[in-house]
Amino acid sequence: MPSSKIAGIGMYVPENVITNNDLKKYMDTSDEWIQERTGIKERRYAHRTDETTTTMGVEAAKIGIERAGITPQDIDFIVFATLSPDYYFPGCGVLVQRALKMKEIGALDVRNQCSGFVYALSVADQFIKSGMYKNILVIGSEKHSFGLDLTTRGRNVSVIFGDGAGAVVLQPTNETTTAGGKRGILSTHLHSDGESAEILAMYNPGTHANHWSTEKFADFNDAEMADMFMSHAMIENAQLFPNMDGPAVFKKAIVKFPEVILESLQVNGLSAADLNLLIPHQANLRIAQFVQQKLGLKDEQVYNNIQRYGNTTAASIPIALCEAWQEGKIKKNDLVCLAAFGSGFTWASALIRW
Ligand code: ACO
Repeated sequence: MPSSKIAGIGMYVPENVITNNDLKKYMDTSDEWIQERTGIKERRYAHRTDETTTTMGVEAAKIGIERAGITPQDIDFIVFATLSPDYYFPGCGVLVQRALKMKEIGALDVRNQCSGFVYALSVADQFIKSGMYKNILVIGSEKHSFGLDLTTRGRNVSVIFGDGAGAVVLQPTNETTTAGGKRGILSTHLHSDGESAEILAMYNPGTHANHWSTEKFADFNDAEMADMFMSHAMIENAQLFPNMDGPAVFKKAIVKFPEVILESLQVNGLSAADLNLLIPHQANLRIAQFVQQKLGLKDEQVYNNIQRYGNTTAASIPIALCEAWQEGKIKKNDLVCLAAFGSGFTWASALIRW
């Protein structure tokens, strides 16, 4: 059975840089607070009109496809991870298929928030290993800026997030290391615990509420019907924005991140000392530093770029992976671990022999 290798990788971030001081125009916050609590100095916001989650994903994909030495017509499956799709439905995968004039291939969206890219990679890995597909495009992309509460009310969430996209092309490989070991994705590990789903969530639009009773259904006029989907009350009560209990997420993240990284190493008979590079989902620099300390990793074993992009959710790992690779920090035969934790809660890791 072949392994899956990352044959090409690309990233795209919008030009528009938003510093912490820029955010002070909209809310009561400070550069000092944001840097001290999160490590973030600046993030990118997409252009309001002509940049979407899909267009950013497409730009990252073009680079990844070119670096893999193939064309969009060679791609035989798309997996697109995002929590900020262009449309409520259909997903972004089909929009990529259209934009890149690909064949009538399968396209799947993954809605797993911060762990979305690792979940997407794991899905693609199974298809490659089974022999079903030969060139899978995996994208993580987010346009958070369109839906953040940029007021003091929403500051605990909005200062964290930024826009951007990353993409990889997965291909089968039977290559081995000089020692005869496997290369490519060695294993992936996926977990969830829905007990606290609501503490990091965007509730609306959604079917969670008991919006109407069947008896009354026939009596509703058009305005009342529309109100059930998206009402003024939802706007006034900030129910159309993400909701997060930051400290509770933090506490869970610092337990589950190390756990899922160690799981990937143990399954492969390896230890933290063997890691060349850990690429944690860029949620908060303090979380990454805690994980680094807990695993006893040196600075050069962990890659962080949250300082420049904030938390780009499903895009954060492929953006960081791409930058690390472009900076020459990932070389052939290196052991690279991708790990994520976020809304759901869901968490995941992927161990790769480059
Ligand atoms: N600027 C200034 N003050 C602020 C801001 C801000 N942007 N945001 C909150 N505060 C204030 C609060 O109002 C509070 O004030 P009070 O003490 O007077 O009540 C104080 O700062 C402390 O607030 P906390 O929320 O306790 O701050 P904390 O140190 O926990 O940091 C943070 C908040 C950064 C959100 C942190 O909890 C965190 O990073 N949590 C994890 C987030 C995460 O990993 N999310 C997962 C990924 S997201 C996803 O999956 C979609």
